[in-house]
Amino acid sequence: MAVLVTGGAGYIGSHTCLELLQAGCDIVVIDNFMNSSVEVVHRIRKLSGENFQFYNMNLLDRDHLEQIFQKNKIEACIHFAGVKAVGESVRFPLLYYKQNLFSTINLCRVMQKYGVKNLIFSSSATVYGSPEKSPITEDHVLHATNPYGRTKWMIEELLKDLSLSDQDWSITILRYFNPIGAHESGEIGEDPKGMPNNLMPFVTRVAAGEYPMLEIFGDQYPTKDGTCIRDYIHVVDLACGHLKALEKTISARGVDIYNLGTGQGYSVLELVNTFEAVTGMEIPYQISKPRAGDVAICYADVTKAERELGWRAVRGIEEMCRDSWNWQSKNPIGYCSEVKTL
Ligand code: UFG
Repeated sequence: MAVLVTGGAGYIGSHTCLELLQAGCDIVVIDNFMNSSVEVVHRIRKLSGENFQFYNMNLLDRDHLEQIFQKNKIEACIHFAGVKAVGESVRFPLLYYKQNLFSTINLCRVMQKYGVKNLIFSSSATVYGSPEKSPITEDHVLHATNPYGRTKWMIEELLKDLSLSDQDWSITILRYFNPIGAHESGEIGEDPKGMPNNLMPFVTRVAAGEYPMLEIFGDQYPTKDGTCIRDYIHVVDLACGHLKALEKTISARGVDIYNLGTGQGYSVLELVNTFEAVTGMEIPYQISKPRAGDVAICYADVTKAERELGWRAVRGIEEMCRDSWNWQSKNPIGYCSEVKTL
């Protein structure tokens, strides 16, 4: 029996595939390389020493998805696939609603048809909107502030309704905080196409000399140094959280929701200073005006995941910075440095 991983060539998906293979799991992977590269598949195979079935397809293609369920014995799905850039979602809302909602509906319909009712869904702390307080618990009121966030929120609601309609479903919703870092080998990591939106890939590219300086968006927030506070989590810890969630999903019924973060907040300046200290690289920066939609403080209460999944993040902020830089310096132009076909 295999675990189907959608979006398995993406940043979090690739690290999760590797952890699953190393734990002895059989996996079947789908990706359409919209925001990833075929090279990722080669590297997961190389690092794990394992082969696995891979399909280059868009989840909107329901017939193709059905064929995959016919050919493989699937026991559970981990659904990462989706589009995720906040700014792009504001410019192209129809694309975001279509890609994220329709692909999830297709996946669930095909799962239902083939009697596969164990699902883990990649949600995000974005569903907390502007949180009233941190640490944030899973029962915090939901409020998305952009189309991307609304797709995550709508999918969560859709999955709850699905579970109410058929109690055989076991659905685990994981709300990620801010994943950074990379596999310690430096072989897989985050490879955003074009100018990065997120802090860490921008920092590593400034360190590499690709951009002259980092813009820090605002230093007048009500925090210790005036810059925003986030819950950065090592992507390998996050991947390990999926293995724990998988064990629980397979043995349970109904819907469970978990925050995956460290429970610890760091400011933008603390992250930049730690990166400089750990790597010895200088990050020139300037303070610019706040970015629209940013919240001052956002970090997780992780007690539910600790208690019910038996999981907690173990890698610290230094390791996150070191591994991000190791990935960037080994792959100065990301996965494009080596292109092969499948
Ligand atoms: N920041 C900068 N300069 C940059 C980029 C970011 O100062 O060039 C700051 C932001 O203002 C923010 C912090 O760094 O204070 C983190 O920003 P990111 O863009 O890395 O992350 P966000 O917290 O804004 O958002 C991320 C994901 C969302 C997800 C959210 C969940 O991008 O998809 O975490 O908490 F929903």
